[in-house]
Amino acid sequence: MKKFLIGALLALGTVTAYGETVAVIGAMDKEINLLKSQMKNIKEKKIGRITYYKGKLENKDIVLLKTGVGKVNAAVGADTVIREFGADKIIFTGVAGAINRNLNIADVVISKDLVQHDVDLTAFGAPMGQLSGESKIEFSADPQLIKLAEKSAIKVLGKDKVTIGRIATGDQFIANKEKVQFLGKEFNADAVEMEGGAVAQVAEIYGVPFVVLRALSDKADGSAEMVYSEFVEVAADNSAEIVKEMLKSM
Ligand code: ADE
Repeated sequence: MKKFLIGALLALGTVTAYGETVAVIGAMDKEINLLKSQMKNIKEKKIGRITYYKGKLENKDIVLLKTGVGKVNAAVGADTVIREFGADKIIFTGVAGAINRNLNIADVVISKDLVQHDVDLTAFGAPMGQLSGESKIEFSADPQLIKLAEKSAIKVLGKDKVTIGRIATGDQFIANKEKVQFLGKEFNADAVEMEGGAVAQVAEIYGVPFVVLRALSDKADGSAEMVYSEFVEVAADNSAEIVKEMLKSM
């Protein structure tokens, strides 16, 4: 009976097998395609609009998904991998715009922490980025996952292309020099994207360790849209290669 129950639950994809499950999250197809194409024993489960791919990558149990762009999509995906798939760790992989002017296209930023730059309760005296009920603006990534991401990124791209820093998240594609300056000044951000801060908040709520990897597809300025279109694939694959390298050592 017990065996049957475990079998039935496994078939539903609601119980993690023995060992840990790592959730690997991207926002767009381009950010997960390379990883999906190399997974083994894939079992698909659709919940709402998001398809979750359970299987093996680098011999590790993972659940891979594309959430769609933006904070709400990302939060739904993060919540679901934790509650439905028992994710023990979360790695977000994808692309971002550069805020730190010393960084170059295709470099990688590993999240030391994340902020949500579109949160504004300044009318109540809170600093930009701070939600009510919080005493800080940032969500900190897991130190061990940061270290592993750094080691893996250096192996894949070389030391000069890897930065550990702050990622700013908001429901906006930034393509404006003034906004870049604002995000640098106000938040000391190195990169900007549209999902990481939401995943970080959900992970923190449940106490699940996470890290966000972002390869730079553009410089978030007036040319961002054009440059993004040219480099999004290279950047997305750089980030995905680092995830593979991380899984090898997990
Ligand atoms: N993702 C990639 N580039 C971005 C940008 N410039 N703004 C927000 N998200 C991004």
